[in-house]
Order: sequence, then structure tokens, then C-alpha cells
Amino acid sequence: MQTVIHVQSLNKSFGGKQALFNLGLTVDAGEMVALIGPSGSGKSTLLRHLSGLACGDRGLSRSRRPATSDAGQAGAVHILNRCVQSSGRLDPDVRRLRASIGYIFQQFNLVGRMSVLNNVLMGRLGRLPRWRGTLGLFTAEDRELAMASLERVGLADRAWQRASTLSGGQQQRVAIARALTQQAELILADEPIASLDPESARKVMDILRDINETDGKTVVVTLHQVDYAARYCGRVIALKSGRIHFDGAVDALTGPFLNELYGGDLDASLMLPESRMPRAPRRALDLVAA
Ligand SMILES: Nc1ncnc2c1ncn2[C@@H]1O[C@H](COP(=O)(O)OP(=O)(O)O)[C@@H](O)[C@H]1O
Ligand SMILES: [Mg+2]
Repeated sequence: MQTVIHVQSLNKSFGGKQALFNLGLTVDAGEMVALIGPSGSGKSTLLRHLSGLACGDRGLSRSRRPATSDAGQAGAVHILNRCVQSSGRLDPDVRRLRASIGYIFQQFNLVGRMSVLNNVLMGRLGRLPRWRGTLGLFTAEDRELAMASLERVGLADRAWQRASTLSGGQQQRVAIARALTQQAELILADEPIASLDPESARKVMDILRDINETDGKTVVVTLHQVDYAARYCGRVIALKSGRIHFDGAVDALTGPFLNELYGGDLDASLMLPESRMPRAPRRALDLVAA
């Protein structure tokens, strides 16, 4: 089984405040992993480090490292067996590696005044020789791929529309089509459904699952709504205060577990009423209600 994500001893501080503590984890090819945890637990920070959008702490020399603390370790992140960063330095080749990583944001990150198709074609930029990208000379194959990706997310008929005219759910599906056009091996999605209504959220999660199951792409998705994690992901990594609190099968998401993880922050949005949970298998409902 190919290892797609390998994180070792990752520490990250902002000013004097440590946000990630000596994190280590491995994700294999073809997994669909939910990253959960209270607000501020470090989920977005971790995803940004995986894609090389942020760089971990340098690490102290052995003699200056406190013996009893997680702080001060020199960390490393490898994706697809290539180095993203080590000892607080981004690999010089990280841009090329980033072409293999699709990143989905809560707020979609589309260019609103551009057509849907052109937004999707942006997924090709990391794969093109620089001169072709800057001149906007996409090939017929690039366009075919972009249209096929739009077809896949059910938006081929919107190709010529301005992206800003689409609903939030549709814009998120365009962002996924962009990642498909990018032919990313790994998809990192940071709260992709947090701004969406339940029906749009379900569509987005269904598409991510399809990409995982049909194409075998590895997906890591941060989710505020734990019931979606239970329904869509086999494995859950729970962060709490910048540390891995739990890493294992989704069956762990019982009521007592969630109470402990979220403490007083367990809000009602984590438990949508049954009537608003489309296609939920009994098991997932039981898990959250337990
Ligand atoms: N750019 C930043 N500057 C300062 N502190 C930050 C920055 N990004 C994140 N943090 C802090 O790191 C911690 C983890 O944040 P974040 O990764 O956004 O959490 P989550 O995504 O789980 O809500 C929080 O305490 C947050 O305030
Ligand atoms: Mg976040």
C-alpha cells in the first residue's frame, strides 16, 4: 500500500503560542479520512502544512530541546513519497508537488468574474509549461478534461456562466471539478460543506466519495458536522488543542467520545435532525445519538 501522507514530529508555533504539538500520522493511498476537532484545534493549520502552504517550526538543537516537552522537535512532511518540508524549510520543488494536491476551501476560491470553464481550466496551470500557462493557451485536451470534470459534478451546462452567478453548492462543485482537472492524487478539503445547506452538502460529499471510491484518490476532509464524518469516512483523526486525540475507525464516534472531544462546544449543528439527514445509514445516526 502506497503511503500518500507521512507526517513526523510536526510542531508549529504562532508567536509564542504552539498550535501543533509533535504531530505524526500516515495516510495510505485510497483512504478517505475525516479530520475533526473543536474550533482552533489545528485542523486547518495541519492541512496547510501538508500542502506546503505553511512551514513548521525549525526545531531546536538536541541540547536546547526541553527533555520533557514535545516542543523543539524538527518535523517533516512527505506527500507521495516526496518531501514537502523538513526541519522548518519548504522543499525547493514544493510547487511541482503541489500540482498533485487538490485543495478545496470553505469559500470555494473561484474567480467570480471568470467563466465556470475557465475556473476549472485553472486546475491545469500547475501542469503546464510556464509560457503556455501565462498566455492562457490551453490545449484541446485540457478543455476536454475540464468539460468532462464539469460533467462529472453535474455542471456542464453552466460552463459559460460567470462563476459568481452560481449558488454556493454549485461553486463548491466547480472547485471540485478544478481539482479533477488538475488530476490531483490527493485532495485536501478544509470545511468544504460548512457554508452549504444540507442538500448541497450531501452532493459535495457524494462527489468527494465518488472520487475516492471510483478513482481511488486519497481524500482528507475537515468537517465540523460530525454526522457527515460518520457517514462518509472510514477513518477519523480527531485533533484537540493541537494534538492527535484519536486516530482510528469511524465507529469511535459515540456520544461520550464526542462529549469528551468537544466538551462544552458540542453545538446543535453537529446533530442535524433526522429529517434533514438524507440517506443516512442507521448506524451513523445511532453513533451520533448514542
Ligand atoms: N496565521 C495565524 N496566526 C496566528 N495564529 C494562528 C494562525 N493560524 C492559526 N492560528 C492559531 O492556531 C490554532 C489552530 O487554528 P486552526 O488551525 O485554524 O484551527 P481549526 O481549523 O481546527 O479551527 C488556533 O489557536 C489559531 O488561533
Ligand atoms: Mg479551520
